[in-house]
Amino acid sequence: MSLEEKVKRLKKLREQAKLGGGQKRIEAQHKKGKLTARERLDLLLDEGSFEEFDMFVQHRCRDYGLDKEKYLGDGVVTGCGTIDGRPVFVFSQDFTVFGGSLSETHAEKICKIMDIALKVGAPLIGLNDSGGARIQEGVESLGGYADIFLRNTLVSGVIPQISVVLGPCAGGAVYSPAITDFIFMVKHTSYMFVTGPNVVKTVTHENVTYEELGGPDVHSTKSGVAHFVGENELETLSLVKKLFSYIPQNNLEDPPQGECTDPIERTDEELNFLVPENPNKPYDIKDVIRKIADHGEFLEVHEHYAPNLVVGFARLGGKSVGIVGNQPAVLAGVLDIDSSIKGARFVRFCDAFNIPLVTFVDVPGFLPGTDQEFRGIIKHGAKLLYAYCEATVPKLTVITRKAYGGAYDVMSSKHVRGDVNYAWPTAEIAVMGPKGAVEIIFKKEIAQSKDPEKAVEQKVEEFREKFANPYVAAERGYIDDVIEPKTTRPRLIRALSMLENKRESLPPKKHGNIPL
Ligand code: HXC
Repeated sequence: MSLEEKVKRLKKLREQAKLGGGQKRIEAQHKKGKLTARERLDLLLDEGSFEEFDMFVQHRCRDYGLDKEKYLGDGVVTGCGTIDGRPVFVFSQDFTVFGGSLSETHAEKICKIMDIALKVGAPLIGLNDSGGARIQEGVESLGGYADIFLRNTLVSGVIPQISVVLGPCAGGAVYSPAITDFIFMVKHTSYMFVTGPNVVKTVTHENVTYEELGGPDVHSTKSGVAHFVGENELETLSLVKKLFSYIPQNNLEDPPQGECTDPIERTDEELNFLVPENPNKPYDIKDVIRKIADHGEFLEVHEHYAPNLVVGFARLGGKSVGIVGNQPAVLAGVLDIDSSIKGARFVRFCDAFNIPLVTFVDVPGFLPGTDQEFRGIIKHGAKLLYAYCEATVPKLTVITRKAYGGAYDVMSSKHVRGDVNYAWPTAEIAVMGPKGAVEIIFKKEIAQSKDPEKAVEQKVEEFREKFANPYVAAERGYIDDVIEPKTTRPRLIRALSMLENKRESLPPKKHGNIPL
């Protein structure tokens, strides 16, 4: 065979591989409103940047006639490309080949790029669209999943891992995305569950649809499994790219920094009037965040899950920061189980990947009640505390209003190694809210008073005057400065710059034991 003929053969094989399970199945995929594995990669990666690996890999199964049904690539497209010029490793499951199901060789392909991603310190993005374990293979497929889970765990905290669920993701297969740092889902065509509707019906007699059991609405509001949801695949993949712009390549690098065209010294008069005079009136912490962030841009993570705590990414003076803020507009910004878990995971991601934390505090405390206590608010609340204590990235804190009780300590206080802690003049830092406090310490006096209501009112006013302000804490150095709200942006940017070379480490240990 001449070289010309050999090259012709190569090209033919490549064309064949690109067709996956064939034109008919590609059409069926499109009919479902889904893109193919390769179309997705085209949208995700910079044009012409994709270098494919293992295009000619085929499965080794001989059972159930599979020795006669082989497809080049075996149901997953893997390789390396760039996003905004930055290298990233990717796999994209091809539903047109055995429903994207995972065979031994399919798993080997994924493991290969995970191993290289770790060696070169580049992020991993997995596009999931799979019917789960290749049923004809059995245990080899289960082994393949375990090989992936192990790598997900070993690279965790070394390279960022992003999972994008664009079709089915069921059974044990869900545990690979679950270990990764962020999960994206797409409306209408994606779902994730450990056991599907049929098994659920047999075991618990519940009738649920795929969507009701594990659709994006469920996972972005109830379970918190999904961090982001896109309206369609195009929007979902552009959200992935947006997130990518805030995070570094690996744990030894800093996030990408662009030129900042939003003036560093920009002040905002409206911030001075954002906190209502009545301490029981809500306001939206996202208004504060947007007024301070570069160009008012804020990428919220877990937007619809535990909205009483807001977390997400922004830039300050061109530098990527992770923002955590109590949200007074939802449940008065109280900390509960879900928000503690949400916050803890976010703080740990930022700490693992050198992203400074900026915390806005307006928290009346932890949510009381039997529901929370019985479900373990003690251990779950401790997760957020542990995460802040453990974090060694620069930590900036701004107390806008309430910082009561244990929640004051938890929310990046000076005592848990907050580096720069500011308070607005509207801050109230105390063991508890004035009303609760006076009802306890003046219980007898109030009971003996002719007009108990008035007595409470008077004592509350006294208490507020004495304790519910930032100066008692500032007197002790628990607050580094009381700042005028409108100056928050320049003050935070200066603090970030001062902390640029911060180095802090934990005592040597195998690993800590975060309360799980
Ligand atoms: C082999 C599979 C497959 C699988 C789908 N296919 N899932 N082949 N192993 N797991 C094939 C189908 O035979 C079909 O082949 C093609 O993929 C498309 O499937 P359809 O059923 O026609 O598509 P659709 O109607 O969209 O339904 C998608 C689906 C369904 C809901 C995912 O295929 C399904 O229920 N599949 C089985 C899911 C499952 O039980 N998986 C095992 C879970 S246990 P043709 O030739 O017609 O195109 C598991 C354990 C993991 O995963 C443990 C890890 C630790």
